[in-house]
Parts: sequence; structure tokens; C-alpha cells
Amino acid sequence: MSRIAYVDGVYRPHGAAAVHIEDRGYQFADGVYEVVAVRGGRLVDEGLHLVRLRRSLGELRIEGALDDAPLKLVLREVIRRNGVVNGIVYLQITRGIAPRDHGFPKAARPVMVVTARQSRPANPKLVEDGVPVVTIPDIRWQRCDIKTISLVANVLGKQQAREAGAYEAWMVDGEGRITEGTSTNAWIVTADNQIMTRAADAAILDGVTRQALIAVIRRGGYNFAERPFTVAEAKAAREAFLTSTTADLMPVTSIDGQPVANGAPGLLTQKLRAEYLAHVAESA
Ligand code: PDD
Repeated sequence: MSRIAYVDGVYRPHGAAAVHIEDRGYQFADGVYEVVAVRGGRLVDEGLHLVRLRRSLGELRIEGALDDAPLKLVLREVIRRNGVVNGIVYLQITRGIAPRDHGFPKAARPVMVVTARQSRPANPKLVEDGVPVVTIPDIRWQRCDIKTISLVANVLGKQQAREAGAYEAWMVDGEGRITEGTSTNAWIVTADNQIMTRAADAAILDGVTRQALIAVIRRGGYNFAERPFTVAEAKAAREAFLTSTTADLMPVTSIDGQPVANGAPGLLTQKLRAEYLAHVAESA
């Protein structure tokens, strides 16, 4: 099946789809995005993604984007036209097309692009063994709570992780506390079995996977705290893991080359993963 993209109201063959050279997304990264998982042809936690999208648009004061009802139709149509059963749908909305000038243009209207692709669930070998992470300074701006397409610091961080043979880089703030991964949220389980992740402040993106997992944790009555943890606390943890739409819940088994506990995925991590996947199946 050939790939189809939605670009500003039109469905086009993926290879021929294009945006204007003066789209503000292209020139200023002046836009927002979402990545939504598709399971069994259905969207996972669509409601949470749409709430976050509206919040991101609001924080950037981008007005005039499609309402939820037509937007949901576009998402479904792109999934259908691409025959995606399990994979992801990517959606981005920029402030629109205008002659290059930093201030908001008077006449522009938002431009939306939606693509979808089939992808396999997380590599079972990685889930079985867990993955290494490295820590790096967090060099991003002070509004990481907005899901903007301005991701160059994340790009550099992910590349640094790859060059170090790691799956992800955990970024560290000025106080030595971990903020999040370059495209994932960071979690630990402490020596006294408390599950911990940073509260959703402006230093992190409030992941939809994070939100859904917190609901699972609360329902399960687990010992849980939303608070930041330092690199030293992470290295002394009993278990560690990361979450995102594309990685689900992935065990982390080493940090900066140092094994987490015995270097194998933690039991609680595996239990939470199973419960989260049950939630995904239910949501889709
Ligand atoms: N990334 N933190 C950052 C910086 C992210 O970019 C992401 C998502 C997350 C996890 O959010 P969620 O659980 O909603 O996927 C946390 C997406 C998947 C991406 O950029 O591809």
C-alpha cells in the first residue's frame, strides 16, 4: 500500500507531499506536534493527546487549528489510507505561512500535517534485557512542558546517547536532578520500593504514557511519589525504566555504564509494563 500524507487539507502521496518554504515550522520551529500510538487500527489514549495538543497550541497562542471532531476524522482517514494496524500517527500544526519575521504574522492560518506508519512494538530483546542510558546536561529552554517541534537539543542528546552505545540520554538540570529522556520520561523504583518520577513541571513534557501509567499505579495502590530524583539516586535505585508512546515502558538496566541493581529488568518494572499494556489494549 502506498503511503499517503495529509497536508493542509489535502491527501497526497507521501513522496510528493510538501510544505511551503516559508512555513513558520520550517523557519522558526514555530509549531507543535503529537505522536499517537495505533493498536489494532485504533488510537491509544487519543483523548489525552488531544488535551495536550490544545494546551500546547494555547501556550504558543496558535489560533484557528481544526477542532477536535474534524481533526479526529483526519487522523482516522490517514490511518485508513495507509492501512496502519499497529504503528503511530504523527500530527504537527505550525503557525502557518508568512514572510519571515519573528513576531506573529497577522494573516497566517495554521498548517497541519498528518502522517502515519506501521511499526513493530518495542523490540522484545530490549524489553527482556533492558536498555542502557547515559546522563547529559539538560541544555533545553524553560518551557519543556510544551510539545513544540523545536527539538534540536533533544536531537543532539539522542545522538550523544547513540554514539555512547546507549538507548537514551537522561538529561540533568542545574541541581543535578534528572528531568527526562530526549524523547521519553524517566522513572526509578527506590530501595524501599517507591516508584518515582518527576512531577510534571515546566522542565519536562507530561507524557501521555506517563499520565496513563500514573493512573494504572494509583489504581493498583502502589507506593508512588511524583518528585525529582538526582543522578546519584537513580544510580542507587533498585529499578529504573522509561516511558513513551513509541517505547511503551522500557526497563533501564544501566546508567552511565553502571548497572542498576543486578543489571536485569526489575520485577516491579515488568509488572507495571504488563499492566500498562493491558491499559493500552483496553484504550484501543
Ligand atoms: N516523544 N519527553 C519528551 C521530551 C518527549 O519527546 C516524549 C515523547 C515524551 C513521552 O511522551 P508520550 O508518553 O506522550 O509519548 C517525554 C515522542 C514519542 C516523539 O517525539 O517521538
